[in-house]
Amino acid sequence: MKILDVCCGSRMFWYDKHEPHTTYCDIRQEKKDLPSGHHIDVDPDVVADFRSLPFADCTFDNVIFDPPHLLHAGPKSWLRAKYGVLDPKVWKDDLKQGFDECQRVLKSTGTLVFKWNDDQIPFSKVIKVFGQQPIYGDRRGKTRWVVFIKKGK
Ligand SMILES: C[S@@+](CC[C@H](N)C(=O)[O-])C[C@H]1O[C@@H](n2cnc3c(N)ncnc32)[C@H](O)[C@@H]1O
Repeated sequence: MKILDVCCGSRMFWYDKHEPHTTYCDIRQEKKDLPSGHHIDVDPDVVADFRSLPFADCTFDNVIFDPPHLLHAGPKSWLRAKYGVLDPKVWKDDLKQGFDECQRVLKSTGTLVFKWNDDQIPFSKVIKVFGQQPIYGDRRGKTRWVVFIKKGK
């Protein structure tokens, strides 16, 4: 079983933060305590950009894609420090490239889990950018987890 967490951040949603089947990726490596009391501990196995993942096609049984969901956050806010922000000019292209890369490295029998928070960009708008509908998952609510299968399968 091979799992890829594409945007691991501080691994907040992991029950086991060193799950042995999982490769943890993020675009940064960073450890610091914020004045707000929040703790940043981003320590990926592989530092990688989700727009160009350094893995062969059809490698993983399960891919988890939890990209930044904010377009705007204060320059010194804990939200920006912990979760990152999207570039308002190119966020659609960036997320589409990320989704396509997740699909590329996913095995034909694999599943892709996508997490999103509706705060600044509606879920429906992001799904339109991906050009594929999830098979199941949360259908309402601010924070959603949904599951995709390999495109074309
Ligand atoms: C919403 S947070 C992930 C939170 C994480 N899943 C958790 O459980 O703590 C989004 C993460 O995506 C990372 N990120 C932003 N742009 C990226 C990119 N182009 N490639 C890979 N990671 C990126 C950020 O550094 C941030 O840690």
